[in-house]
Amino acid sequence: MVTRRDTLKSLLLTGMVISAPNSLRRLNAAESSRTQPLKIPALETGTLAFGERSFSLSLQAGVTRFYQDVETPTWGINGTYLGPTLRMRDGENIRIQVQNGLDEHSILHWHGMNVPARADGGPHQRIEPGATWRPEFQVRQPAASCWYHAHTMHRSGPQVYRGLAGMLIVDDEESDQSGLPSEYGVDDIPLIIQDRIFDGNGHFVYPERMQDHMAGVRGNTLLVNGTLNPSLRAQRPLTRLRVLNGANARNFTLGLSTGASFWQIATDCGYLEQPVELKQIVLTPGERVEILVDTRGTNPFKLVNIPVPEPNIPYYGLFTDLLREMDRQAFDILEIQPSGIAADHQPAIPERLTTIAWLPEQSANATRTIRLQMGNGPGQGGGLGGGPHARRQYGGWGGGVHKINGREMDPAYIEATIIAGSTEIWEIINETPMIHPFHIHKVHFQILDRNGAPPLPSERGFKDTVNVPALGSVRIIAQFTGPGDPLMPYMFHCHILEHEDHGMMGQFILV
Ligand code: C2O
Ligand code: CU
Ligand code: CU
Repeated sequence: MVTRRDTLKSLLLTGMVISAPNSLRRLNAAESSRTQPLKIPALETGTLAFGERSFSLSLQAGVTRFYQDVETPTWGINGTYLGPTLRMRDGENIRIQVQNGLDEHSILHWHGMNVPARADGGPHQRIEPGATWRPEFQVRQPAASCWYHAHTMHRSGPQVYRGLAGMLIVDDEESDQSGLPSEYGVDDIPLIIQDRIFDGNGHFVYPERMQDHMAGVRGNTLLVNGTLNPSLRAQRPLTRLRVLNGANARNFTLGLSTGASFWQIATDCGYLEQPVELKQIVLTPGERVEILVDTRGTNPFKLVNIPVPEPNIPYYGLFTDLLREMDRQAFDILEIQPSGIAADHQPAIPERLTTIAWLPEQSANATRTIRLQMGNGPGQGGGLGGGPHARRQYGGWGGGVHKINGREMDPAYIEATIIAGSTEIWEIINETPMIHPFHIHKVHFQILDRNGAPPLPSERGFKDTVNVPALGSVRIIAQFTGPGDPLMPYMFHCHILEHEDHGMMGQFILV
Protein backbone atom coordinates (compact mmCIF):
# COMPACT_ATOMS: atom_id res chain seq x y z
CA MET A 1 0.00 0.00 0.00
CA VAL A 2 1.47 3.30 -1.07
CA THR A 3 0.74 6.04 1.41
CA ARG A 4 -0.19 9.45 0.22
CA ARG A 5 2.97 10.84 1.65
CA ASP A 6 5.15 8.35 -0.26
CA THR A 7 3.29 9.25 -3.38
CA LEU A 8 3.85 12.91 -2.80
CA LYS A 9 7.53 12.37 -2.16
CA SER A 10 7.89 10.57 -5.44
CA LEU A 11 6.38 13.57 -7.17
CA LEU A 12 9.70 15.28 -6.97
CA LEU A 13 11.36 12.47 -8.87
CA THR A 14 9.06 11.89 -11.81
CA GLY A 15 8.40 13.66 -15.03
CA MET A 16 5.22 14.07 -17.06
CA VAL A 17 3.06 11.94 -14.84
CA ILE A 18 3.33 13.60 -11.48
CA SER A 19 3.53 10.09 -10.12
CA ALA A 20 1.43 7.07 -10.89
CA PRO A 21 0.29 4.55 -8.33
CA ASN A 22 2.72 1.61 -8.36
CA SER A 23 0.43 -0.97 -9.85
CA LEU A 24 -0.52 1.22 -12.76
CA ARG A 25 3.03 2.19 -13.40
CA ARG A 26 3.87 -1.49 -13.71
CA LEU A 27 0.90 -2.06 -15.98
CA ASN A 28 1.98 0.75 -18.28
CA ALA A 29 5.68 0.96 -17.69
CA ALA A 30 6.32 2.12 -21.24
CA GLU A 31 3.61 4.72 -21.08
CA SER A 32 4.64 6.72 -18.08
CA SER A 33 7.24 8.39 -20.27
CA ARG A 34 5.69 8.14 -23.76
CA THR A 35 4.00 11.33 -24.88
CA GLN A 36 0.66 11.44 -26.67
CA PRO A 37 -0.64 14.17 -28.98
CA LEU A 38 -2.60 16.70 -26.96
CA LYS A 39 -6.31 16.09 -27.46
CA ILE A 40 -8.20 19.16 -28.61
CA PRO A 41 -11.84 19.25 -27.50
CA ALA A 42 -14.24 19.41 -30.45
CA LEU A 43 -15.33 22.93 -31.34
CA GLU A 44 -19.11 23.31 -31.05
CA THR A 45 -20.69 26.40 -32.56
CA GLY A 46 -24.24 25.08 -32.33
CA THR A 47 -26.84 25.78 -34.98
CA LEU A 48 -28.02 29.22 -35.98
CA ALA A 49 -31.70 29.67 -36.81
CA PHE A 50 -34.07 32.63 -36.52
CA GLY A 51 -31.39 34.74 -34.87
CA GLU A 52 -30.71 32.20 -32.14
CA ARG A 53 -27.78 29.93 -31.59
CA SER A 54 -28.74 26.55 -30.16
CA PHE A 55 -26.57 23.98 -28.51
CA SER A 56 -27.50 20.44 -27.65
CA LEU A 57 -25.55 18.83 -24.85
CA SER A 58 -25.93 15.45 -23.27
CA LEU A 59 -24.37 14.26 -20.05
CA GLN A 60 -23.27 10.69 -20.51
CA ALA A 61 -21.27 7.87 -18.97
CA GLY A 62 -18.64 6.02 -20.98
CA VAL A 63 -15.08 4.78 -20.96
CA THR A 64 -11.91 6.67 -21.86
CA ARG A 65 -8.47 5.28 -22.66
CA PHE A 66 -6.03 7.57 -20.91
CA TYR A 67 -3.55 4.68 -20.80
CA GLN A 68 -3.39 2.50 -23.87
CA ASP A 69 -5.46 -0.68 -23.44
CA VAL A 70 -6.84 0.49 -20.10
CA GLU A 71 -10.47 1.50 -19.95
CA THR A 72 -11.33 4.13 -17.37
CA PRO A 73 -15.02 4.64 -16.61
CA THR A 74 -15.67 8.36 -17.06
CA TRP A 75 -18.37 10.92 -17.65
CA GLY A 76 -18.50 13.49 -20.39
CA ILE A 77 -20.65 15.91 -22.32
CA ASN A 78 -21.36 14.73 -25.89
CA GLY A 79 -18.43 12.37 -25.36
CA THR A 80 -16.82 10.19 -22.75
CA TYR A 81 -14.60 12.68 -20.89
CA LEU A 82 -14.99 16.48 -20.69
CA GLY A 83 -17.13 18.27 -23.28
CA PRO A 84 -16.85 20.25 -26.50
CA THR A 85 -15.59 23.83 -26.55
CA LEU A 86 -18.74 25.94 -26.95
CA ARG A 87 -18.28 29.08 -28.99
CA MET A 88 -20.65 32.08 -29.04
CA ARG A 89 -20.61 35.83 -29.69
CA ASP A 90 -21.44 38.90 -27.68
CA GLY A 91 -25.01 39.96 -28.46
CA GLU A 92 -26.26 36.55 -29.57
CA ASN A 93 -29.34 34.86 -28.17
CA ILE A 94 -28.43 31.42 -26.91
CA ARG A 95 -30.55 28.35 -26.25
CA ILE A 96 -28.99 25.29 -24.75
CA GLN A 97 -30.56 21.95 -24.10
CA VAL A 98 -28.84 19.80 -21.55
CA GLN A 99 -30.04 16.23 -21.43
CA ASN A 100 -29.06 14.18 -18.39
CA GLY A 101 -28.20 10.65 -19.47
CA LEU A 102 -26.55 9.84 -16.14
CA ASP A 103 -28.08 7.83 -13.31
CA GLU A 104 -27.90 10.70 -10.84
CA HIS A 105 -29.10 14.30 -10.92
CA SER A 106 -26.73 16.95 -12.14
CA ILE A 107 -26.57 20.50 -13.54
CA LEU A 108 -24.19 22.52 -15.71
CA HIS A 109 -23.09 26.02 -14.70
CA TRP A 110 -21.70 28.54 -17.23
CA HIS A 111 -18.74 29.80 -15.24
CA GLY A 112 -17.81 33.38 -16.14
CA MET A 113 -21.01 34.05 -18.04
CA ASN A 114 -23.22 37.00 -17.16
CA VAL A 115 -26.59 35.24 -17.46
CA PRO A 116 -30.00 35.42 -15.70
CA ALA A 117 -30.15 33.46 -12.45
CA ARG A 118 -32.51 30.84 -13.90
CA ALA A 119 -30.10 30.09 -16.73
CA ASP A 120 -27.01 30.12 -14.53
CA GLY A 121 -26.99 26.45 -13.59
CA GLY A 122 -26.53 26.62 -9.85
CA PRO A 123 -27.60 23.96 -7.34
CA HIS A 124 -31.23 25.17 -7.55
CA GLN A 125 -31.54 24.07 -11.16
CA ARG A 126 -31.19 20.33 -10.96
CA ILE A 127 -31.64 18.00 -13.91
CA GLU A 128 -33.06 14.64 -12.89
CA PRO A 129 -31.79 11.50 -14.66
CA GLY A 130 -33.44 11.34 -18.08
CA ALA A 131 -34.65 14.95 -17.89
CA THR A 132 -33.67 17.93 -20.04
CA TRP A 133 -32.95 21.49 -18.92
CA ARG A 134 -33.34 24.38 -21.38
CA PRO A 135 -31.60 27.58 -20.28
CA GLU A 136 -31.77 30.67 -22.53
CA PHE A 137 -29.79 33.87 -22.34
CA GLN A 138 -28.31 36.67 -24.36
CA VAL A 139 -24.52 36.94 -24.39
CA ARG A 140 -23.69 40.34 -22.90
CA GLN A 141 -19.96 40.42 -22.30
CA PRO A 142 -16.63 40.90 -24.04
CA ALA A 143 -14.52 38.16 -25.60
CA ALA A 144 -13.21 35.73 -22.98
CA SER A 145 -12.30 32.14 -22.19
CA CYS A 146 -15.01 30.86 -19.86
CA TRP A 147 -15.97 27.32 -18.99
CA TYR A 148 -18.82 25.12 -17.85
CA HIS A 149 -18.99 22.38 -15.26
CA ALA A 150 -21.23 20.38 -12.96
CA HIS A 151 -22.54 22.38 -10.00
CA THR A 152 -24.64 19.82 -8.17
CA MET A 153 -25.40 20.39 -4.49
CA HIS A 154 -22.80 18.43 -2.45
CA ARG A 155 -21.65 16.62 -5.62
CA SER A 156 -19.71 19.15 -7.73
CA GLY A 157 -16.36 17.65 -6.69
CA PRO A 158 -17.04 14.04 -7.71
CA GLN A 159 -19.00 14.99 -10.85
CA VAL A 160 -16.33 17.31 -12.22
CA TYR A 161 -13.68 14.74 -11.27
CA ARG A 162 -15.39 12.14 -13.46
CA GLY A 163 -15.38 14.54 -16.38
CA LEU A 164 -18.25 17.03 -16.38
CA ALA A 165 -16.47 20.17 -17.58
CA GLY A 166 -15.62 21.98 -20.81
CA MET A 167 -14.48 25.31 -22.25
CA LEU A 168 -16.67 28.12 -23.51
CA ILE A 169 -15.25 30.84 -25.74
CA VAL A 170 -16.93 34.20 -26.21
CA ASP A 171 -15.98 36.29 -29.27
CA ASP A 172 -16.69 39.92 -30.05
CA GLU A 173 -15.60 42.60 -32.49
CA GLU A 174 -12.50 43.38 -30.48
CA SER A 175 -11.36 39.77 -30.60
CA ASP A 176 -12.10 39.63 -34.36
CA GLN A 177 -9.79 42.58 -34.90
CA SER A 178 -7.13 41.75 -32.33
CA GLY A 179 -4.70 40.15 -34.77
CA LEU A 180 -4.10 37.48 -32.11
CA PRO A 181 -3.61 33.82 -33.02
CA SER A 182 -7.16 32.58 -33.43
CA GLU A 183 -7.27 29.38 -35.44
CA TYR A 184 -8.79 26.92 -33.00
CA GLY A 185 -6.65 23.85 -32.48
CA VAL A 186 -3.88 25.26 -34.69
CA ASP A 187 -2.47 28.35 -32.98
CA ASP A 188 -5.32 28.93 -30.50
CA ILE A 189 -5.28 26.04 -28.07
CA PRO A 190 -7.50 25.33 -25.05
CA LEU A 191 -5.71 23.70 -22.11
CA ILE A 192 -7.85 22.19 -19.36
CA ILE A 193 -5.41 21.20 -16.64
CA GLN A 194 -6.56 18.64 -14.08
CA ASP A 195 -5.03 16.18 -11.65
CA ARG A 196 -6.42 12.72 -10.98
CA ILE A 197 -5.66 9.51 -9.10
CA PHE A 198 -5.88 6.16 -10.91
CA ASP A 199 -6.12 2.80 -9.13
CA GLY A 200 -4.45 -0.43 -10.29
CA ASN A 201 -7.31 -1.12 -12.72
CA GLY A 202 -7.00 2.28 -14.30
CA HIS A 203 -10.17 3.55 -12.60
CA PHE A 204 -10.37 7.03 -11.13
CA VAL A 205 -10.12 7.19 -7.37
CA TYR A 206 -12.01 9.98 -5.65
CA PRO A 207 -10.69 9.93 -2.09
CA GLU A 208 -13.27 10.19 0.65
CA ARG A 209 -11.03 10.71 3.66
CA MET A 210 -11.55 13.73 5.86
CA GLN A 211 -8.08 15.12 5.21
CA ASP A 212 -8.52 14.91 1.44
CA HIS A 213 -11.65 16.95 1.73
CA MET A 214 -10.09 19.45 4.11
CA ALA A 215 -7.23 20.17 1.72
CA GLY A 216 -9.37 19.46 -1.35
CA VAL A 217 -8.94 16.41 -3.58
CA ARG A 218 -5.54 16.49 -5.29
CA GLY A 219 -4.35 13.81 -7.65
CA ASN A 220 -0.93 12.49 -8.52
CA THR A 221 -1.44 12.16 -12.27
CA LEU A 222 -1.81 15.10 -14.58
CA LEU A 223 -4.25 15.31 -17.49
CA VAL A 224 -4.48 18.12 -20.03
CA ASN A 225 -7.70 18.03 -22.08
CA GLY A 226 -7.93 14.45 -20.82
CA THR A 227 -4.51 13.58 -22.29
CA LEU A 228 -1.85 11.82 -20.26
CA ASN A 229 1.73 12.97 -21.06
CA PRO A 230 0.48 15.46 -23.65
CA SER A 231 2.57 16.92 -26.43
CA LEU A 232 1.54 19.82 -28.66
CA ARG A 233 3.04 20.29 -32.12
CA ALA A 234 3.02 24.04 -32.73
CA GLN A 235 2.43 25.16 -36.31
CA ARG A 236 2.91 28.91 -36.13
CA PRO A 237 5.62 31.18 -34.68
CA LEU A 238 3.26 32.34 -31.94
CA THR A 239 0.80 30.12 -30.10
CA ARG A 240 -2.07 31.26 -27.90
CA LEU A 241 -2.89 29.03 -24.96
CA ARG A 242 -6.24 29.44 -23.22
CA VAL A 243 -5.38 27.87 -19.89
CA LEU A 244 -8.04 26.76 -17.43
CA ASN A 245 -7.20 25.42 -14.00
CA GLY A 246 -9.88 22.72 -14.06
CA ALA A 247 -8.48 20.89 -11.03
CA ASN A 248 -10.70 20.28 -8.02
CA ALA A 249 -8.22 21.81 -5.58
CA ARG A 250 -4.66 22.12 -6.85
CA ASN A 251 -2.99 25.46 -7.62
CA PHE A 252 -0.63 25.57 -10.57
CA THR A 253 2.31 27.94 -11.05
CA LEU A 254 2.85 27.95 -14.79
CA GLY A 255 6.19 28.63 -16.44
CA LEU A 256 8.31 27.46 -19.36
CA SER A 257 11.09 24.90 -18.92
CA THR A 258 13.49 27.20 -20.78
CA GLY A 259 12.90 30.02 -18.32
CA ALA A 260 11.74 32.15 -21.26
CA SER A 261 9.03 34.78 -20.91
CA PHE A 262 5.51 34.48 -22.23
CA TRP A 263 2.87 37.16 -22.62
CA GLN A 264 -0.39 37.13 -20.77
CA ILE A 265 -3.20 38.70 -22.80
CA ALA A 266 -6.34 37.87 -20.82
CA THR A 267 -7.67 37.28 -17.34
CA ASP A 268 -10.78 35.23 -16.48
CA CYS A 269 -13.31 37.49 -18.18
CA GLY A 270 -11.47 39.24 -21.01
CA TYR A 271 -8.40 40.99 -22.31
CA LEU A 272 -5.87 42.87 -20.23
CA GLU A 273 -5.35 46.43 -21.46
CA GLN A 274 -1.93 45.42 -22.75
CA PRO A 275 0.04 42.17 -22.76
CA VAL A 276 2.00 41.46 -19.56
CA GLU A 277 5.37 39.76 -19.97
CA LEU A 278 5.82 37.04 -17.38
CA LYS A 279 8.03 34.13 -16.46
CA GLN A 280 5.46 32.50 -14.20
CA ILE A 281 1.86 32.85 -13.16
CA VAL A 282 -0.22 31.24 -10.42
CA LEU A 283 -3.59 29.81 -11.39
CA THR A 284 -5.98 28.69 -8.65
CA PRO A 285 -8.91 26.35 -9.40
CA GLY A 286 -11.48 27.98 -11.68
CA GLU A 287 -9.16 30.75 -12.91
CA ARG A 288 -8.22 31.16 -16.58
CA VAL A 289 -5.46 33.02 -18.39
CA GLU A 290 -4.71 33.41 -22.05
CA ILE A 291 -1.01 33.49 -22.85
CA LEU A 292 1.09 33.86 -26.00
CA VAL A 293 4.08 31.55 -26.26
CA ASP A 294 6.94 31.96 -28.73
CA THR A 295 6.95 28.72 -30.72
CA ARG A 296 9.70 29.49 -33.21
CA GLY A 297 12.78 27.33 -33.56
CA THR A 298 13.21 23.60 -33.28
CA ASN A 299 14.02 22.80 -29.65
CA PRO A 300 11.19 21.15 -27.74
CA PHE A 301 10.35 22.72 -24.40
CA LYS A 302 7.70 22.32 -21.76
CA LEU A 303 4.99 24.17 -19.98
CA VAL A 304 5.79 23.25 -16.39
CA ASN A 305 4.57 23.71 -12.87
CA ILE A 306 7.14 25.71 -10.94
CA PRO A 307 7.45 24.85 -7.28
CA VAL A 308 6.75 27.78 -5.00
CA PRO A 309 8.97 28.57 -2.03
CA GLU A 310 7.83 27.33 1.33
CA PRO A 311 5.03 29.60 2.47
CA ASN A 312 5.86 31.67 5.46
CA ILE A 313 2.70 30.97 7.39
CA PRO A 314 2.07 29.11 10.59
CA TYR A 315 1.02 25.65 9.51
CA TYR A 316 0.72 23.05 12.21
CA GLY A 317 -0.95 19.75 12.85
CA LEU A 318 -1.72 16.82 10.62
CA PHE A 319 -1.82 18.64 7.30
CA THR A 320 1.32 20.63 7.68
CA ASP A 321 3.67 18.38 5.75
CA LEU A 322 1.08 17.40 3.21
CA LEU A 323 0.36 20.99 2.23
CA ARG A 324 3.97 21.95 2.12
CA GLU A 325 4.79 19.03 -0.16
CA MET A 326 1.98 20.00 -2.50
CA ASP A 327 3.17 23.57 -2.72
CA ARG A 328 6.68 22.50 -3.55
CA GLN A 329 6.10 20.09 -6.41
CA ALA A 330 7.76 20.57 -9.77
CA PHE A 331 6.25 18.67 -12.69
CA ASP A 332 5.68 18.93 -16.41
CA ILE A 333 2.32 19.97 -17.79
CA LEU A 334 2.69 19.98 -21.57
CA GLU A 335 5.49 19.22 -23.99
CA ILE A 336 5.66 21.72 -26.85
CA GLN A 337 7.29 20.85 -30.19
CA PRO A 338 7.98 24.20 -31.80
CA SER A 339 7.00 25.05 -35.35
CA GLY A 340 10.48 24.95 -36.88
CA ILE A 341 9.97 28.50 -38.12
CA ALA A 342 13.24 30.41 -38.06
CA ALA A 343 13.96 32.39 -34.96
CA ASP A 344 14.55 35.62 -36.89
CA HIS A 345 10.89 35.73 -37.90
CA GLN A 346 9.73 38.00 -35.08
CA PRO A 347 6.17 37.22 -33.93
CA ALA A 348 4.02 40.28 -33.38
CA ILE A 349 2.77 40.83 -29.84
CA PRO A 350 0.02 43.47 -29.95
CA GLU A 351 0.73 46.58 -27.95
CA ARG A 352 -2.78 47.28 -26.83
CA LEU A 353 -5.65 44.87 -26.38
CA THR A 354 -8.58 46.75 -24.89
CA THR A 355 -9.61 49.63 -22.69
CA ILE A 356 -11.05 48.81 -19.30
CA ALA A 357 -13.47 51.11 -17.51
CA TRP A 358 -12.06 51.03 -13.99
CA LEU A 359 -14.61 51.26 -11.20
CA PRO A 360 -13.63 53.91 -8.67
CA GLU A 361 -13.99 52.93 -5.01
CA GLN A 362 -16.21 55.95 -4.43
CA SER A 363 -18.74 54.55 -6.90
CA ALA A 364 -19.63 51.70 -4.49
CA ASN A 365 -23.12 51.72 -2.98
CA ALA A 366 -22.27 49.10 -0.36
CA THR A 367 -19.39 47.21 1.22
CA ARG A 368 -19.68 43.62 2.44
CA THR A 369 -17.39 41.33 4.36
CA ILE A 370 -17.07 37.68 3.41
CA ARG A 371 -15.20 35.48 5.88
CA LEU A 372 -13.90 32.12 4.63
CA GLN A 373 -13.74 29.65 7.49
CA MET A 374 -13.00 26.06 8.31
CA GLY A 375 -14.10 25.19 11.80
CA ASN A 376 -16.55 23.87 14.31
CA GLY A 377 -19.10 26.41 15.35
CA PRO A 378 -20.04 29.98 14.57
CA GLY A 379 -17.62 32.38 16.16
CA GLN A 380 -14.93 29.90 17.06
CA GLY A 381 -14.71 27.95 13.88
CA GLY A 382 -12.67 30.16 11.66
CA GLY A 383 -9.07 31.05 11.94
CA LEU A 384 -6.36 28.70 12.91
CA GLY A 385 -8.03 27.30 15.96
CA GLY A 386 -11.44 25.74 15.88
CA GLY A 387 -10.96 25.22 19.60
CA PRO A 388 -8.43 23.10 21.46
CA HIS A 389 -10.33 19.87 20.83
CA ALA A 390 -10.49 20.42 17.10
CA ARG A 391 -6.85 21.35 17.06
CA ARG A 392 -5.93 18.01 18.57
CA GLN A 393 -8.14 16.09 16.18
CA TYR A 394 -7.68 17.86 12.91
CA GLY A 395 -4.42 19.68 13.14
CA GLY A 396 -5.80 23.10 13.82
CA TRP A 397 -8.26 23.09 10.99
CA GLY A 398 -11.17 22.90 13.35
CA GLY A 399 -13.05 19.94 11.94
CA GLY A 400 -14.71 19.12 8.69
CA VAL A 401 -16.90 22.16 8.42
CA HIS A 402 -16.43 24.75 5.70
CA LYS A 403 -18.27 28.01 6.16
CA ILE A 404 -18.76 31.55 4.99
CA ASN A 405 -19.56 34.17 7.63
CA GLY A 406 -20.11 31.48 10.27
CA ARG A 407 -22.58 29.51 8.19
CA GLU A 408 -22.50 26.41 6.05
CA MET A 409 -24.25 26.70 2.68
CA ASP A 410 -27.98 26.70 3.35
CA PRO A 411 -30.14 26.80 0.22
CA ALA A 412 -32.80 28.68 2.20
CA TYR A 413 -30.50 31.46 3.38
CA ILE A 414 -29.67 34.55 1.32
CA GLU A 415 -26.53 36.32 2.46
CA ALA A 416 -26.97 39.44 0.34
CA THR A 417 -29.87 41.13 -1.42
CA ILE A 418 -28.45 43.44 -4.05
CA ILE A 419 -30.30 46.05 -6.05
CA ALA A 420 -29.71 45.56 -9.77
CA GLY A 421 -27.32 48.14 -11.14
CA SER A 422 -25.54 48.83 -7.88
CA THR A 423 -21.80 48.67 -7.36
CA GLU A 424 -20.39 46.86 -4.34
CA ILE A 425 -17.04 46.31 -2.69
CA TRP A 426 -16.58 42.88 -1.16
CA GLU A 427 -13.81 42.31 1.31
CA ILE A 428 -12.98 38.61 1.34
CA ILE A 429 -11.14 37.58 4.47
CA ASN A 430 -9.43 34.20 4.59
CA GLU A 431 -9.34 33.04 8.22
CA THR A 432 -7.64 29.74 7.39
CA PRO A 433 -4.03 28.70 6.73
CA MET A 434 -4.61 27.70 3.09
CA ILE A 435 -5.37 29.54 -0.15
CA HIS A 436 -9.02 29.65 -1.22
CA PRO A 437 -9.99 30.64 -4.78
CA PHE A 438 -13.11 32.75 -4.27
CA HIS A 439 -15.63 32.85 -7.12
CA ILE A 440 -18.74 34.98 -7.63
CA HIS A 441 -21.34 33.94 -10.17
CA LYS A 442 -22.54 36.34 -12.85
CA VAL A 443 -20.41 39.40 -12.07
CA HIS A 444 -17.03 40.31 -13.50
CA PHE A 445 -15.09 42.09 -10.80
CA GLN A 446 -11.93 44.15 -10.50
CA ILE A 447 -9.42 43.54 -7.72
CA LEU A 448 -8.83 46.63 -5.57
CA ASP A 449 -6.13 45.18 -3.37
CA ARG A 450 -4.72 42.07 -1.74
CA ASN A 451 -3.43 42.37 1.82
CA GLY A 452 -3.60 46.11 1.23
CA ALA A 453 -1.27 46.05 -1.79
CA PRO A 454 -2.34 46.74 -5.39
CA PRO A 455 -3.17 43.67 -7.51
CA LEU A 456 -0.48 42.05 -9.66
CA PRO A 457 -0.18 43.31 -13.27
CA SER A 458 -1.49 39.89 -14.33
CA GLU A 459 -4.71 40.54 -12.41
CA ARG A 460 -5.51 44.01 -13.75
CA GLY A 461 -8.48 42.93 -15.79
CA PHE A 462 -11.95 41.51 -15.21
CA LYS A 463 -12.00 38.46 -12.98
CA ASP A 464 -14.60 36.07 -11.60
CA THR A 465 -12.30 34.01 -9.36
CA VAL A 466 -9.58 35.35 -7.11
CA ASN A 467 -6.75 33.83 -5.11
CA VAL A 468 -7.37 34.78 -1.48
CA PRO A 469 -4.10 34.09 0.33
CA ALA A 470 -3.86 32.13 3.56
CA LEU A 471 -4.73 34.35 6.52
CA GLY A 472 -5.01 37.26 4.08
CA SER A 473 -7.68 39.31 2.41
CA VAL A 474 -8.70 40.66 -0.96
CA ARG A 475 -11.03 43.53 -1.82
CA ILE A 476 -12.93 43.43 -5.08
CA ILE A 477 -15.36 45.83 -6.71
CA ALA A 478 -18.14 44.88 -9.12
CA GLN A 479 -21.22 46.24 -10.74
CA PHE A 480 -24.21 43.95 -10.23
CA THR A 481 -26.17 44.61 -13.40
CA GLY A 482 -29.72 43.32 -13.94
CA PRO A 483 -32.02 41.75 -14.75
CA GLY A 484 -32.98 40.94 -11.18
CA ASP A 485 -34.95 37.87 -10.13
CA PRO A 486 -36.21 37.97 -6.55
CA LEU A 487 -36.89 34.23 -6.56
CA MET A 488 -33.65 32.77 -7.85
CA PRO A 489 -30.28 33.28 -6.13
CA TYR A 490 -26.75 33.27 -7.53
CA MET A 491 -23.89 31.50 -5.76
CA PHE A 492 -20.55 32.69 -4.48
CA HIS A 493 -18.10 30.14 -3.13
CA CYS A 494 -14.65 28.72 -2.77
CA HIS A 495 -13.70 26.98 -6.04
CA ILE A 496 -11.93 24.14 -4.24
CA LEU A 497 -14.81 21.87 -5.15
CA GLU A 498 -14.68 19.86 -1.92
CA HIS A 499 -14.93 23.11 0.05
CA GLU A 500 -17.90 24.18 -2.05
CA ASP A 501 -19.53 20.77 -1.57
CA HIS A 502 -18.92 20.88 2.17
CA GLY A 503 -20.44 24.28 2.76
CA MET A 504 -18.06 27.10 1.77
CA MET A 505 -20.72 28.63 -0.43
CA GLY A 506 -23.33 31.36 -0.04
CA GLN A 507 -26.04 33.03 -2.08
CA PHE A 508 -26.98 36.50 -3.22
CA ILE A 509 -30.12 37.65 -4.86
CA LEU A 510 -30.44 40.42 -7.38
CA VAL A 511 -33.66 42.43 -7.14
CU1 C2O B 1 -17.12 27.45 -11.50
CU2 C2O B 1 -20.03 28.20 -8.92
O1 C2O B 1 -18.60 27.77 -10.17
CU1 CU C 1 -19.51 30.52 -11.74
CU1 CU D 1 -11.63 26.72 -0.01
